[in-house]
Amino acid sequence: MISRIKGTEDTIEESWLWEWIEGRFKEVATNFGFTQIRTPTFEATELFDRGVGNETDIVQKEMYTFEDKGGRSITLRPEGTAPVMRAFIEHNLSSKGLPQKLFYYGPMFRYEKPQSGRLREFHQFGAELIGSALPIADVFVISMAIEMLNSVGLTNFKLKINSTGDEKCRPEYVKALRNYYRDLLPKLCDDCKVRYERNVLRLLDCKKDAQYAKDAPKITDYLCSDCKAHFETLKRYLDELDIQYEVDPSIVRGLDYYTRTVFEFKYPALGAQDAIGGGGRYDKLIEELGGSKTPSVGFAFGIERIILALKMENKVPEAKGIDVYVIAVEDAQRVESLKIAKALSKFFTVDVDIMGRNLKGQFSQASKENARFVIVIGEEEIKEGLYTIKNMKTGEQKRVRFSDIIEMVKT
Ligand code: HAM
Repeated sequence: MISRIKGTEDTIEESWLWEWIEGRFKEVATNFGFTQIRTPTFEATELFDRGVGNETDIVQKEMYTFEDKGGRSITLRPEGTAPVMRAFIEHNLSSKGLPQKLFYYGPMFRYEKPQSGRLREFHQFGAELIGSALPIADVFVISMAIEMLNSVGLTNFKLKINSTGDEKCRPEYVKALRNYYRDLLPKLCDDCKVRYERNVLRLLDCKKDAQYAKDAPKITDYLCSDCKAHFETLKRYLDELDIQYEVDPSIVRGLDYYTRTVFEFKYPALGAQDAIGGGGRYDKLIEELGGSKTPSVGFAFGIERIILALKMENKVPEAKGIDVYVIAVEDAQRVESLKIAKALSKFFTVDVDIMGRNLKGQFSQASKENARFVIVIGEEEIKEGLYTIKNMKTGEQKRVRFSDIIEMVKT
């Protein structure tokens, strides 16, 4: 038997749940004026080297990179922001006017150690608001993200925010952080010893060395006046909108492109992998990828973790059954039942027996498929043009014309 690759999942009985979540998120994003962008699942490796940052764990350890038959270095996208910005530049989307509001969903790939809520192929729903440097843009996307979580019924999440400063103030902070961690180096985990050299900010969100992060210098004490003003305004707007949040100096994010605002949605009950979404501002990314200066902000949710959270909150809606199951009393009426099913399928979800089941078997199949209505087709029904329709919930039964069936099921 050939099995699926470690860290990947088949979605079979829950496909409807995925579609439901994506549908809800899509609806909210559309109502906030976002339109969908679809980018390829693989890109030139250089995009992520430059975009995500070659000192990050993602680029250092987690990318699915291979050489294609033409000798090009290709990478399965580990995230969606850099590809969307590549497309923004490549298609000169700024000429259509700013801001550009784009959303996307689809699979992402990271070679991480699989565990609950952490996969090698996982799915994100993300949104990018391209073109505004103002804190109101940060609040706009945060509000939309909260609206999305609420749209699927999630409430027990926490919004954590931080500022990572900019190219003016971050170097001073990095220096202070290095000084602080220098003496602790022998006690740090192996990963953090490497991070100390390459990406000292990441020491703050290491779960193993969390005890040292508590007393580390805080970036919010090092922000330059512009970054400070941005962060203060953001907090004021969140307060004015009654959005609950916590300032958490350990939120530094695992991607290098962030400037100023960063945020995460945590779902504490999920344990180790408790970030159901994250995002922030990336004012320099488009420039770094060869475009002109275009400050932007966005976020992405992890769909697998959203599903885990929904299950924990007992918020998974009941699977929707079909609208109508058409039953043929005898073999002689099978073709007629198919004709009726075909006609009804223009309006409803329908099914019909194709297994040669008897009347009882067809009724139990209809129940199994959670059919709202059953239509019984016998010889008499065909002769008279009147069909017996049964409401499976109430048990009510009627003989009606075809045109009335449509009205009945609709209401
Ligand atoms: P990220 O925090 O790396 O941000 O990923 C966003 C979300 O994807 C996480 O909060 C988590 O729910 C989910 N996720 C990440 N890795 C895995 C995994 N291995 N298995 C399951 N779920 C996972 C980004 O990717 C940024 N591009 C977000 C963004 C958009 N920032 C600005 N715009």
